[in-house]
Amino acid sequence: MRQAGRYLPEYMAVREKAGNFLNLCHAPDMAAEVTIQPVERLDVDAAILFSDILVVPNEMGMELEFIKGFGPKFPKPLQTDDDLNSLDMSAGEKLTYVYDTIKLVREQLNPEKALIGFTGSPWTLATYMLEGQGTKTYAIVKKRIATDPEFMHKLLQKLTIVIIDYLSRQIEAGVNAVQVFDSWASALEESAFFEFSWRYMVEIAEAIKSKYPHIPVLLFPKGISGYLDKIYGNFDVFCVDWSTPMELAKEKLGERYVLQGNMEPTRLYSKKATKEGVEHIVNVMGKEPGHIFNLGHGMLPDLDPDNAKYLVDLVHDMTSR
Ligand code: CP3
Repeated sequence: MRQAGRYLPEYMAVREKAGNFLNLCHAPDMAAEVTIQPVERLDVDAAILFSDILVVPNEMGMELEFIKGFGPKFPKPLQTDDDLNSLDMSAGEKLTYVYDTIKLVREQLNPEKALIGFTGSPWTLATYMLEGQGTKTYAIVKKRIATDPEFMHKLLQKLTIVIIDYLSRQIEAGVNAVQVFDSWASALEESAFFEFSWRYMVEIAEAIKSKYPHIPVLLFPKGISGYLDKIYGNFDVFCVDWSTPMELAKEKLGERYVLQGNMEPTRLYSKKATKEGVEHIVNVMGKEPGHIFNLGHGMLPDLDPDNAKYLVDLVHDMTSR
C-alpha cells in the first residue's frame, strides 16, 4: 500500500539519488534500502517489497515510462494478435533485480519481520497493457471484452503463467508471503469480474499453494463489496479495501479467510480521524488472530509520517495480547 513512498523524506532522498522511479526499482541496493525504511520508522510488523506491478509487462517487452505528475504510461499499448504473440513469456527469468532486492532485504531485515512479495493481478495488468495508462472509463479494455473475449482470455492466461513463475521466484528468493493486487477489480460487473479477473487470481493462488503450502497468499480485489457472497478459492487472506465495510467482510468471509485491512488512508490526515478509524476496525475484528490491520488502499504523498507512526503505535497498544 505504498508503505514506502513519497510521504517519506528518506524515500525521496533515495529516489533522487536513483534519478527516477524505474531506476530505483532496477537497483537492488537502493530498492532494499527503501523497503526497510518504513519498517525502521514506523515499526510495522511486515515490510512490503519495493517494486511496482508494472515491471512485469515491462519485462514482457512493453516499453514503460513513469511520467512525473501523470503516473505510469506504456507508449505503445498492446493492440494486435502479433503484439500478443510477441509478449516475452520468460519475463520471470529477467526480473533478477527483484530477486536480488529480496535477498538483500532478507539479509538486512529483522528476522521477526515478514517480507511480503507481490504482483499485479492478470486483469489489472491487462488493463494497463491495453489502455496504456490509467483510465476512467476502461473503454479500450471493455471494448475488447465485448468484441473479442478470446483475445482477453489469451492475454490473461499468458499473464497468469508469467505471474505464477514470478511469484515462485520471489518465494525462492526469500519472501514470506505474496499479495496479488487487483486494483481495477471494481471496473467489472459481477459476471465479468469472475470470468476475467477472479478465476485467474484463484488459479495463481492455487498454483502457489500447491508448490509452497506454507506461504500465505493474500488477494486484494479492490471495490467488489457487492460480490463477496461469491468469493471462492484456496488462498489465505482476503484483503478488504476501504470501501467495503469491515462488518460485511467479516460476516461474509471471516470464517473462511483471514481478513486484512481496511482503514481509509485519508484518515491519516488527522490523528482524531485515525484514532476513530482504528477503534472502529479493532472493535469489529476483536483482538483474536484472523485479522491483519492495514490500510484499505495506498498512502498518499502528502500524508504525515508522524500520523502513520501514531497509527502503528495505536494498533499495537490496542491489540497487544
Ligand atoms: O511500499 C509498497 O507498497 C511497495 C511498493 C509498491 C509500489 N507500487 C511502489 C510505487 C506496490 C505494492 C505498488 C503496487 C501498484 N503499482 C499497484 C497496486 C496497488 C494499488 O495502489 O492499487 C498499482 C495499480 C501500481 C501502478 C502504479 N505505480 C501507479 C498507478 C503509480 C502512480 C501512483 C501515483 O500516486 O502517482 C505507480 C508509481 C509508484 N509505485 C509509486 C510507488 C512508491 C510512486 C512513484 C514515485 O516515487 O513517484
